Amino acid sequence: MTISIRSANEEDAGLLSRLGGGLFSQTFAHLYDPVDLSFFLSTSHSEQKIRDDMSHGARYGIAFSYQKPIGYIKFGKNGLPVVLGIGRHFEIKQLYIERAYHRQKIGQRLMDFAFSQMAPNPSDVIFVGVWTENFLAQKFYARLGFDPFACYWYPVGRKLDRELIMVKSLNLPFV
Ligand SMILES: CC(C)(COP(=O)(O)OP(=O)(O)OC[C@H]1O[C@@H](n2cnc3c(N)ncnc32)[C@H](O)[C@@H]1OP(=O)(O)O)[C@@H](O)C(=O)NCCC(=O)NCCS
Repeated sequence: MTISIRSANEEDAGLLSRLGGGLFSQTFAHLYDPVDLSFFLSTSHSEQKIRDDMSHGARYGIAFSYQKPIGYIKFGKNGLPVVLGIGRHFEIKQLYIERAYHRQKIGQRLMDFAFSQMAPNPSDVIFVGVWTENFLAQKFYARLGFDPFACYWYPVGRKLDRELIMVKSLNLPFV
């Protein structure tokens, strides 16, 4: 299978809104009241939000199978409620792949893409927030060197989800 990955720009906001909203729903829609889900999608995955986030430094990589978008990664400066060490703080903000394409190392390739763009130094840290019951994603991040670090509450509409923050560091002794 031929998978290509490219950086997104502002012109991709519509594509990213549809892709992100669709993949969030595919993964998590069953957990939420439709009103909460629709509020969340219309705010967190709107074209305007994506453009705003890009203008504040968020970056995206989109994976394509031939011409079809099948997944994406969003990354940038850390926005999670944690601080650690003295280096720069990065965050993997979203990572979603169409279910039919799971376990073909596309997630790993999108992570490699984000790392190559962020170019972290040994003193930098990279965080990711994962739902505490998303054990497959936690296993995926653990395989890439992320360790559990803290928890916080993340709002989806009126519902609060408990999220695990995982961290990867190249030089801290406990990771
Ligand atoms: C988590 C996710 C991004 C992983 O991407 P992927 O392309 O499937 O993962 P890769 O093929 O690169 O890596 C697979 C590894 O991740 C873990 N993993 C991912 N999905 C798994 C599954 N369904 N069952 C068991 N292990 C799984 C395993 O460690 C696996 O390694 P292995 O195949 O050698 O056992 C993808 O499953 C996904 O989009 N999930 C739904 C959205 C989501 O949960 N996103 C994370 C939100 S924080």
